[in-house]
Amino acid sequence: MRIEKRWKVLIIDDDPGILKVTAIALEDAGYTAITAPDGESGIELCVRESPDLVITDIRMPGIDGIEVLKRIKQIDPDREVIVVTAFSDINHAIRALQLDASDFITKPISEQALTVALKRARDRYTTRKELRDYTSTIEQRWMETAEELAKTFHLQKLLIESSIDGIIACDREGKIVIFNRSMEQMLGYARDTVSGMQIDELFCRGEARKFRELLDSGEFGGQGKLFLHESCLSGQHGARIPVQLSAARMIQGEEDMGVVCFFRDEREIRKLAQEVVDQARLLHQDKMISLGKLAASVVHEINNPLAGILNYARLMIRILSRGDLSQELSTKFQGYLSLMESELERCSKIVSNLLAFSRKSRLEFSPVDISEVLNKCINLSGHKMALQNIRVEADLSRDLPRIQGDFNQLQQCVINLIFNAIDAMPEGGVLSLASSFDADRDLVRISIRDTGCGISKEDLPHVFDPFFTTKTEGKGLGLGLSTTFGIVDRHNGTIRVESEPGKGSGFEIELPANSRPLG
Ligand SMILES: Nc1ncnc2c1ncn2[C@@H]1O[C@H](COP(=O)(O)OP(=O)(O)OP(=O)(O)O)[C@@H](O)[C@H]1O
Ligand SMILES: [Mg+2]
Repeated sequence: MRIEKRWKVLIIDDDPGILKVTAIALEDAGYTAITAPDGESGIELCVRESPDLVITDIRMPGIDGIEVLKRIKQIDPDREVIVVTAFSDINHAIRALQLDASDFITKPISEQALTVALKRARDRYTTRKELRDYTSTIEQRWMETAEELAKTFHLQKLLIESSIDGIIACDREGKIVIFNRSMEQMLGYARDTVSGMQIDELFCRGEARKFRELLDSGEFGGQGKLFLHESCLSGQHGARIPVQLSAARMIQGEEDMGVVCFFRDEREIRKLAQEVVDQARLLHQDKMISLGKLAASVVHEINNPLAGILNYARLMIRILSRGDLSQELSTKFQGYLSLMESELERCSKIVSNLLAFSRKSRLEFSPVDISEVLNKCINLSGHKMALQNIRVEADLSRDLPRIQGDFNQLQQCVINLIFNAIDAMPEGGVLSLASSFDADRDLVRISIRDTGCGISKEDLPHVFDPFFTTKTEGKGLGLGLSTTFGIVDRHNGTIRVESEPGKGSGFEIELPANSRPLG
């Protein structure tokens, strides 16, 4: 008898002869045999050496084989134990089998009986081990699946609980089975209170029926679905809560499992909308106040020249009514008329600037190359600058994307800035103009800097206000920068100024490369 695995067998017998012979027979058969002369030392050896099989005699002084069997099974129920009995000891053998002995053999031990018993024990051991391995694999798999399921379940629960929208799911009969935290907050009910309740009870009167009809009509989101339906829920203490509701029937295979509803609290949305309206109203009020101020300053600015014109016109009418127009008077009249002309020009300049500023004039949008605008402005103001000893440094990009804009109005903007710079450098200086493209922000930038007198800290916040000027009477209207601001704004752009008194000023205009006319 040859075996593959080297099995370790413990033999317990008080007969040294039997011990020896059995051990030799086992070793011959390919087992590793260890021996113990009595039950006590046999159990000790069993614990220490962990044999695969134990063969124990039943009748022994001290603790007998049945006791040895019991204790070994207590320590390790899977250990295979073969008991050896005298032929007359059949009762003991039966008792041993009841205590889960693998087998029994009778004395004198025949090699054949031993071989058969050992093989059976080994088979039992192997089958038991395979069964155990199999069971533990199944257990392991089951644990993993259970863990996986628990994880998915927790994630889904978390998902439902973390939703900002209120979520209610009900079964086929309309009984609430899921009621998330946002829902609790929205209605003021704890989920235990509503669990098992009919979902219809949460709707305001008439709303549940409407909801069901729409859900099944398929008109608003498809069959068994309802998308963004305005409805009303009834909260704690009868509070009416306006909601936006989306819902879907939960279908598994062919079976209708119920309905899941998502509720958005309209009160929040309405609050936000109200805030926007309030803000717009405030802005409008602000605008009206500014317009009032502007109207007052316009009246003031136009009143003086108009009064002058009126005076001269009346004077001329009175003189003409006398009937004679001497040479001397005719010369005077020419003087009056030219004064009237310049005052009228002033009025018309104020009006046209204000039109540009107040968005009343129309903008003609077409693709514009900003470098071309700048070049044209440099040419237009070149003579003036040369006279005033101003050197121009231009750094104009050649491959700017064309922007959508009004060429003439943009030219007006740049001219206003150049004229201001010229005024700021009566003793000469340097005017730097640059154009560039910011690809990251998709905008075209214009920069105009001078080395002039600069702007004081107190004046800086007011330079874009209409009629703000530090120039002497008749020299400036204070409309250049406000007009520029208005035009840039209508091109969806921005204008910035920085200045240091005594050193100079810099203006920067940014225009979106894809701007469209506003208003
Ligand atoms: N480059 C600059 N350097 C110094 N001060 C400036 C410059 N640009 C503008 N300012 C200041 O801002 C004020 C307002 O400029 P704005 O162009 O609006 O009006 P103005 O030049 O005074 O008059 P207008 O342009 O209507 O003839 C100017 O009076 C001046 O004080
Ligand atoms: Mg100006």
